[in-house]
Amino acid sequence: MNPIQIAIDGPASAGKSTIAKILATDLNFIYVDTGAMYRVVTLAAMREDLALQDEAAVTALLPNINISFKPGNPVQRVFLNNEEVTDEIRSVEVTANVSTVSAYAAVRQAMTDLQREIAAAGGVVMDGRDIGTTVLPNAAVKIFLIASVHERAVRRFKENQAKGMDTTLDDLEVAIEKRDYLDSHREISPLKKASDAVELDTTGLSIEEVVNKVKAIIETK
Ligand code: CDP
Ligand code: CDP
Repeated sequence: MNPIQIAIDGPASAGKSTIAKILATDLNFIYVDTGAMYRVVTLAAMREDLALQDEAAVTALLPNINISFKPGNPVQRVFLNNEEVTDEIRSVEVTANVSTVSAYAAVRQAMTDLQREIAAAGGVVMDGRDIGTTVLPNAAVKIFLIASVHERAVRRFKENQAKGMDTTLDDLEVAIEKRDYLDSHREISPLKKASDAVELDTTGLSIEEVVNKVKAIIETK
């Protein structure tokens, strides 16, 4: 029997990783944060001082990038060539550049290969933008989480405040809208609800309410 796959997609700050992590823990499944992978590639390119618009230069870097994860609480720990970059990949600068790098064909192919390899190991909850459409098209459950831009910016604002990051709500709304636009309009595997995904609007819902709704959807499958 194939391992069970749960795909959680949606725009920035919709609550994908929060919900995916809780589900993975409750179901004893592997959790895969695919956004973290694109963030690691972006960080690696920024550290090399590459012009990020230079697709060939970014692509040439891929063989030198090894991405790995280790369990951690409350967040999964992320490594670039065995160096921990868990916090660094969430910086405002990496966030601003990631949609440029994630649009490149070779980057997407390398990340998709890695994601499928991890998923082959057992039951998996994977969150991202193209999991239900491209990475795991046969996933047993596909959820597309959305929420208003304002609510998503408020959520990210609170998270940044707790981390001591200096961001404004207005800047976050602009950054989120820009990233959503770029992610939805790129040529290869854009952010899109899979035709067989269940869309869930989480505006005004607590984490617990969203988890319960997603579990109810899983039970119907
Ligand atoms: O957590 P947040 O919504 O801010 O973003 P993320 O999930 O960490 O993803 C960061 C970026 O990686 C996205 O804005 C996309 O450009 C890219 N990404 C992607 O292209 N495909 C995925 N499956 C996951 C992320
Ligand atoms: O992974 P994605 O970018 O979609 O979002 P996230 O990092 O899981 O969530 C962004 C923030 O929203 C986190 O601080 C969550 O605690 C918070 N939040 C949520 O995820 N879901 C709700 N229903 C309410 C708040």
